[in-house]
Amino acid sequence: MKLTLSVIKADVGSIGGHLRPSKRLLQTVEDYVREKGKDLFLDLYVSHTGDDIALLMTHKRGVGNADLHEMAWKAFLAGTRVARQQGLYGAGQDLLVDSFSGNVRGMGPAVAEMEIEERPGEAFLFFAADKTDPGAYNLPLYLAFADAMNSPGLLLSPKMGLGFRFVVMDVSPGEADRVIDLETPEEIYDLAALLRDPERYVVESVWSRASGEQAVAVSTSRLHNIAGKYTGKDDPVMLVRAQMDFPATGEILAPYHVGPFVAGAMRGSHQMPLMPVKLLSPVSFFDGPPIVSCAAFSVRDGRLTEPVDVFDHPFWDAVRSRLSDKSAEMRRQGFFGAAMLPMSELEYTGITERLGRLDRRFKRRREISPAAAIAASGEKIVS
Ligand code: 13P
Ligand code: 13P
Ligand code: MG
Ligand code: MG
Repeated sequence: MKLTLSVIKADVGSIGGHLRPSKRLLQTVEDYVREKGKDLFLDLYVSHTGDDIALLMTHKRGVGNADLHEMAWKAFLAGTRVARQQGLYGAGQDLLVDSFSGNVRGMGPAVAEMEIEERPGEAFLFFAADKTDPGAYNLPLYLAFADAMNSPGLLLSPKMGLGFRFVVMDVSPGEADRVIDLETPEEIYDLAALLRDPERYVVESVWSRASGEQAVAVSTSRLHNIAGKYTGKDDPVMLVRAQMDFPATGEILAPYHVGPFVAGAMRGSHQMPLMPVKLLSPVSFFDGPPIVSCAAFSVRDGRLTEPVDVFDHPFWDAVRSRLSDKSAEMRRQGFFGAAMLPMSELEYTGITERLGRLDRRFKRRREISPAAAIAASGEKIVS
């Protein structure tokens, strides 16, 4: 049976800064969806990761369905009203336009959707990250789908051995959507050359070359491309199908032990390790560290099982402890060098204005050094 998995997520306000939504806000959004969406979806799971609320829905309406998207948009509007009443911070933060126009994509909320042929024993993972952007998934996806050091299935499973097709989006500001298809294993170096720059190139989807079936859908919106100014990080959601043609659940999860430095945390402007956390975790240290949660589901005829909280296990306690140290280590160097994002990625205009003021105060030295004079005249210095 054809089934659509849709995740639509937004930050419409949170307690005490950017920590987590209030219980009343979450309940308001969930009640709205259960009431107004009951004829639209087959099943629903509502959760939050940090200050972002995600609606995971199963249905048969295909991707980008206007009715479903409009219902989700209105649920977040209802939530925004409660956020205002409660004085939550950043009420309506991710609802960037005044009125709904057919599809929440490009309007602020993050969307990850795929239409699948439901397998017997359909297993999938729902990831949600806060205080970072969609490129944070680049490395875990590369390792899970293209690196035999991480995923033995690439050697052991004939279907996985045929490799995967990655669709990568160039998300540079001002660009219309530009995408490229790359096939692994033949093009893994090309893929790595793009994925090393997660602020510019983002994995949007991954497909099995054995069956042509979609394995991964990532939300690739960049809020500042939409709003043209700082509006928080994009806080991406992702769906990943597991087992059979695809990597096993454990192969998909294993890369999260790395905790790579990603863009985000305080004011969306720093480099901090990506920490795998339990479901319904808030953020804390330095508005971070960037967090990622994951709920595993099985689904039959569109009905979801209860979620398994995959990062709620003693193994991940040890990882979290190491990544806390890694976070603190980076924070010791404060604003200096690699701790902060490069100028092009800073989310605040204040520093641009400051540097502009300082630039006007720079004075050119009247006398220049002999070597610089020779260089300026174009002569070669022979030693
Ligand atoms: P202010 O609105 O207080 O500057 O906070 C923005 C913010 O918290 C983004 O990190
Ligand atoms: P959110 O994007 O999660 O709202 O965080 C804003 C921020 O920069 C906190 O420091
Ligand atoms: Mg927020
Ligand atoms: Mg957030």
